[in-house]
Amino acid sequence: MYSQALDERGAHAQPDEAVNAAFEERVAAEEKIEANDWMPAAYRKTLIRQISQHAHSEIIGMQPEGNWITRAPSLRRKAILLAKVQDEAGHGLYLYAAAETLGVSREELVDQLLAGTAKYSSIFNYPSLTWADMGAIGWLVDGAAIMNQIPLCRCSYGPYARAMVRICKEESFHQRQGFEIMVTLARGTDAQRAMAQDALNRWWWPSLMMFGPHDAESTHSDTSMRWKIKRFTNDELRQKFVDVTVPQAAFLGLTVPDPDLRYDDSTGHYLFGEPDWDEFKAVLRGEGPCNAQRLAHRRRAHDDGAWVREAAEAHAAKQRKRAVA
Ligand SMILES: [Fe+2]
Ligand SMILES: [Fe+2]
Repeated sequence: MYSQALDERGAHAQPDEAVNAAFEERVAAEEKIEANDWMPAAYRKTLIRQISQHAHSEIIGMQPEGNWITRAPSLRRKAILLAKVQDEAGHGLYLYAAAETLGVSREELVDQLLAGTAKYSSIFNYPSLTWADMGAIGWLVDGAAIMNQIPLCRCSYGPYARAMVRICKEESFHQRQGFEIMVTLARGTDAQRAMAQDALNRWWWPSLMMFGPHDAESTHSDTSMRWKIKRFTNDELRQKFVDVTVPQAAFLGLTVPDPDLRYDDSTGHYLFGEPDWDEFKAVLRGEGPCNAQRLAHRRRAHDDGAWVREAAEAHAAKQRKRAVA
């Protein structure tokens, strides 16, 4: 298990006050920390947890949309959705690679996901019921992901920050493709508009929950902020998302399903209601509508891919043998 390996590594690199102070100074001066640099064991552990949860989210996140590739309403829509879902697989791979620079193997991380012991974003445990959900997911879920991820391009850990630059460019394409689907439906027939509204109703609150619990209840926030892994708090990011998204809903002629939502002239921000945190906790505990289905599908896909891993290993062994001969 990597936790044991980390403890050992931590013990070897028992922080000498001066070494630790130099690390904190570098971070405070906005210097990037690289894979071979000394870092506190807790910094390494926090990053492994965050990057691997992020990677798992990208991989599990392919499922709600992958579910609609064969049912996309036109060849153009199919090609776009296919490209989007493939991007998410790519994001998962960059992120597993970034986590590996911290001394954990991709196999360990994948094992944790398949064993059900790793977390991933709770949003992907909701079902995608109609084509309008492809619009709402791109617009809201990728939109919320961008809010979270743009600041990560400036994360103090170099390999993570660099991976995020490319990921964010692709996420912005995802958000726009989702919004374009919503525009088309909103300008369509009554039935299409109703479908778009229904998707907004179902995805709005889970999207707000993507920013995590309130700052007061968020366990990892303070140190992550000091270490510049996190640049804004959960509540700050949630507010930014609401401020950007509410006018977009108005443009679409759709209603945000929140009776408490109103613009506050004095602050220039929208005030909004409370997400159902009991639902959030239940989904995190594995009781969401699709938790079991998502993991079962992932395990099946992993088993189905066994022959690819075996073939790659056999090929690598052959190459090694040739190199020796
Ligand atoms: Fe992604
Ligand atoms: Fe995305």
